[in-house]
Amino acid sequence: MADVRTAHTADLDPATLKAVRALLDDAFDGDMSDEDWDHTLGGAHVLLWEDGELIGHGAVVRRQFLHAGRAVRAGYVEGVGVRADKRGRGHGSAVMDEAERLLRGGFELGALSASDDAVGFYAARGWRLWPGTTSVVGPRGIERLPDEEGGVFVLPLSAELTFDGDLACDWRSGDAW
Ligand SMILES: CC(C)(COP(=O)(O)OP(=O)(O)OC[C@H]1O[C@@H](n2cnc3c(N)ncnc32)[C@H](O)[C@@H]1OP(=O)(O)O)[C@@H](O)C(=O)NCCC(=O)NCCS
Repeated sequence: MADVRTAHTADLDPATLKAVRALLDDAFDGDMSDEDWDHTLGGAHVLLWEDGELIGHGAVVRRQFLHAGRAVRAGYVEGVGVRADKRGRGHGSAVMDEAERLLRGGFELGALSASDDAVGFYAARGWRLWPGTTSVVGPRGIERLPDEEGGVFVLPLSAELTFDGDLACDWRSGDAW
């Protein structure tokens, strides 16, 4: 029986953080960069344990979006992965159920950038592909990021959204979205 636990990064000991990184390195077939890892830190981690082993993870971090002239308190989902031999048994859903609970209780909007393989997974959960443009509020001002269009999903909550408008995220190293 898998057990879902939620903890802030500050409350994870080094061994658990190492297990999260190893799980994500494995789930993303070695494509997880140090910057991607950095993006999963500093917020809440949803950890799925089975028989003392970490088999699933997702993180919710706070970001500040700019949309329709307003700042939006966004909860951004990062580092969602289930150990390859444990997939297809509802564990990914269990991680996202808890991540979405955190989003509903703490944020005006949920958002994430889906891997190509997981587009169907999020769409089936009611996440909506952002149909407008995507940008980043960078050091040189607002920069359009057309390459991200078609991969950014939102979970509409209390923020008023103009779906054909622009959604701009805050700046960070590595992939902005
Ligand atoms: C995406 C991922 C987390 C799903 O985990 P999982 O434990 O297999 O998911 P679940 O068993 O809870 O599946 C829930 C539902 O989504 C469906 N589903 C799962 N993965 C899917 C996918 N890639 N595309 C479409 N549907 C998918 C399942 O069929 C299931 O549907 P059902 O409820 O009708 O049976 C897992 O495949 C994974 O770790 N992938 C590699 C890393 C990755 O791409 N992460 C996403 C980063 S954005």
